[in-house]
Amino acid sequence: ELERDLVGRDILVTAGGTREPIDPVRFLGNRSSGRQGVALAARAAERGADVTLLAANIEVPAPANVNVVRVSSAEQLAAACAELAPRHDTIIMAAAVADFRPEHVQTGKIKKEATGEELTLTFKKNPDILRNMVAARVDGQTIIGFAAETEEDDQARLELARAKVKRKGCDFLVLNRVGWNHGFGREETEVQVLKLSGEVVKEAVGDKMSVADAILDVARERA
Ligand code: C5P
Repeated sequence: ELERDLVGRDILVTAGGTREPIDPVRFLGNRSSGRQGVALAARAAERGADVTLLAANIEVPAPANVNVVRVSSAEQLAAACAELAPRHDTIIMAAAVADFRPEHVQTGKIKKEATGEELTLTFKKNPDILRNMVAARVDGQTIIGFAAETEEDDQARLELARAKVKRKGCDFLVLNRVGWNHGFGREETEVQVLKLSGEVVKEAVGDKMSVADAILDVARERA
């Protein structure tokens, strides 16, 4: 049976991984497929919310019953977030955002003949979109961040997440383990949801749809 417990909610979900242009034909990317964010958007819509999916290079189809806005780079994602965030009561930042972008985007394709045996690129730090949205938060807005960490030790991962949720200032942080054999691109996942205080309020294991439901249960209750 379908519980429409998110009727009246306006939820913005970012999904996928940003691509930072190097030249007209190349980019720096990451392994995020967008599956978890797309599952969150799909389940939120099925549970009755009005959903905007802000999709950065997702590898899976967008759900039919959500508004889809497509972007590619972190700067484009930041601009779209700034525009869309104010009309949503819940923001779920599942996208993997590049921390750095090439400082200069070459106007023509970089030619191997012109660079010798080594190529050096200089990177500039991208804005932290999540922190900026927390800073620009409108009244009553619930903001949920993600932390994909590669540490194998459970306690070490949790400590990193506790520090991160405080640094970012979001209401909740979804921690998941990523690595060569975990997380990005996989069907199954395992997450812990922390509050700003560092307390773990939810743990979920399973396919990305059921984990999405667990995260949305936390979002429904708010901080
Ligand atoms: O600091 P870290 O990248 O691990 O933080 C992850 C969380 O912050 C995710 O929710 C991600 O979408 C968000 N983020 C962001 N802007 C960045 C980097 C990450 O909003 N430049």
